[in-house]
Amino acid sequence: MRDERGTGPQGAADGLTVRVPAKVNVQLAVGGLRPDGFHGLANVFLAVGLHDEVTASPYEGFRLTVSGTDAEHVPLDESNLATRAARLLAAHHGREPHVRLHIAKDIPVAGGMAGGSADAAGALLACDALWGTRTSRDELLALCAELGSDVPFALVGGAALGQGRGELLTPLETGGTFHWVFALADGGLSTPEVYRECDRLREASGTGAGIDSVPEPRPSERLLDALRTGDAAELAASVSNDLQAAALSLRPSLADTLKTGTAAGASAALVSGSGPTCAFLAADAASAAAIASALEESGHCRAARTTTAPAPGATLTGK
Ligand code: C5P
Repeated sequence: MRDERGTGPQGAADGLTVRVPAKVNVQLAVGGLRPDGFHGLANVFLAVGLHDEVTASPYEGFRLTVSGTDAEHVPLDESNLATRAARLLAAHHGREPHVRLHIAKDIPVAGGMAGGSADAAGALLACDALWGTRTSRDELLALCAELGSDVPFALVGGAALGQGRGELLTPLETGGTFHWVFALADGGLSTPEVYRECDRLREASGTGAGIDSVPEPRPSERLLDALRTGDAAELAASVSNDLQAAALSLRPSLADTLKTGTAAGASAALVSGSGPTCAFLAADAASAAAIASALEESGHCRAARTTTAPAPGATLTGK
């Protein structure tokens, strides 16, 4: 039997590869639980320089393979978002989803960095190029929104405000480069569980979790200004994540990870999205390297990665 989690896209020499970024939410303001089971958001996405690569190659039938450190944690069944993306695009154009997809994973799995969403956006773009289906940008964005709340952002990258359940995007201007460190955790957290825990904590505190009890989420003007001007100190002072308390409640050890990064000089420390990856803002590349070393030496994370933001959205690499 061939190993579905092989080391690379063997036989994919005639394939097309798309590079897709991870994200961090510099603001994640969570509104009340809506009747459809989602929460209204003011979600400020920032694409960061950790990437997956999705390769689509000609194939009679459908096949998915995955390589990379976290590959064994990626589902290969119909629940895989890249598989769903390929099938959705094929159905949209009334054709068979004949493709061999390979995902080279570098984004942590179930880590709160939208790796699955990135793979879905990558698969859409790679299959569209392979099949020559020339789907318009607006149609691609609509297909992305159908696949998940974070998928449209993986397509556009840069920085954007996500409203609705996160899928209604307004691109944001950014100035300069921000230096980040990400502390990867052992094991993932389930996004729906973290939202449920957020609701539970709200109910337990007596404020309630419904749309009538929670104020309408709004983007922070100070944070949007900080992104626009490239002011890392101002950004550090204005980041926020309403899911953080829920992630910490489900995984209390993350508090030690956050403290370690702060003690090592991070100007901001927060859980990335629904976690458990923790994100640290650094003043410059040297400070980011020092924070990453301190995190790795502390044993409070599986690994630490330094990178910069913003990063471009899903892009055909020409490979
Ligand atoms: O849209 P996506 O499939 O990524 O959402 C996964 C789950 O996360 C949803 O089923 C829901 O439980 C939760 N979610 C939410 N509110 C959002 C986005 C996601 O409650 N705005």
